[in-house]
Amino acid sequence: MTALLSVQGLTAGYGGMPIIEGVDLDVEENAVAVIIGPNGAGKSTLLKSIFALTKIAGGTIAMAGRDITGLATAALVPIGISAVPQNRNVFPNLTVAENLDIGTYAAPPRDRARTEANILALFPDLRAKLGQPAGELSGGQRQMVAIGRALMSEPRLLLLDEPTAGLSPAYLEKIFDLILDVRKTGVTILMVEQNARQALRIADRAHVLVNGRNFISGSGAELLANDNVRRSFLGGGEAA
Ligand SMILES: Nc1ncnc2c1ncn2[C@@H]1O[C@H](COP(=O)(O)OP(=O)(O)O)[C@@H](O)[C@H]1O
Ligand SMILES: [Mg+2]
Repeated sequence: MTALLSVQGLTAGYGGMPIIEGVDLDVEENAVAVIIGPNGAGKSTLLKSIFALTKIAGGTIAMAGRDITGLATAALVPIGISAVPQNRNVFPNLTVAENLDIGTYAAPPRDRARTEANILALFPDLRAKLGQPAGELSGGQRQMVAIGRALMSEPRLLLLDEPTAGLSPAYLEKIFDLILDVRKTGVTILMVEQNARQALRIADRAHVLVNGRNFISGSGAELLANDNVRRSFLGGGEAA
């Protein structure tokens, strides 16, 4: 089966020395794939490279078998890739509805009202907040706005960079549940996570990135059971 996303030998950075080197990554359709690894490993750089926000020095990126290496971000959104960046991912002075609207610019949905209704069905907390500035929402609700905004272009592949960063444990579980709900609607998920143990529990496939290179890959369960991964990346302890 052709992977929905296939990254091969990707080398990329910001103009100086490459940050990621020779990275391989396949994401199967309708999977939840997770990238973990130490701070500074290049996880965000990898996601940004897939979304054409870095300088690519080598390798290829294909979406559903089509080579998309070198296409601009604005061209990737209509192809079905959407992304939520790690930080500052909502416009705090704009209302929730206006934030959602921004998600339609690069690829207008076929039926805007229906797409928004589908997103509000996933995130019912947002319905009462549509007219409120996004900056007034809780961290977890802002994350929902950011994900909702990314879903407005009806992506096939959603890139999420640390969607649970800074959230309380209760909200963290909620966001992971919501991500699984998004997947149920047919969207494939590739996400970077610092909360590695919890992320591996919901991962069909997981990749550890170290120093900008592939370190180890496997199913979420395999990596949770791997002694080396547990010691180095999950703070030791028993298998979950
Ligand atoms: N915009 C940028 N310009 C130059 N270097 C950057 C930029 N963003 C990140 N880096 C560098 O790339 C490396 C990897 O960063 P990043 O991809 O953010 O790691 P991670 O997400 O795994 O913590 C770091 O050394 C960081 O300083
Ligand atoms: Mg990062």
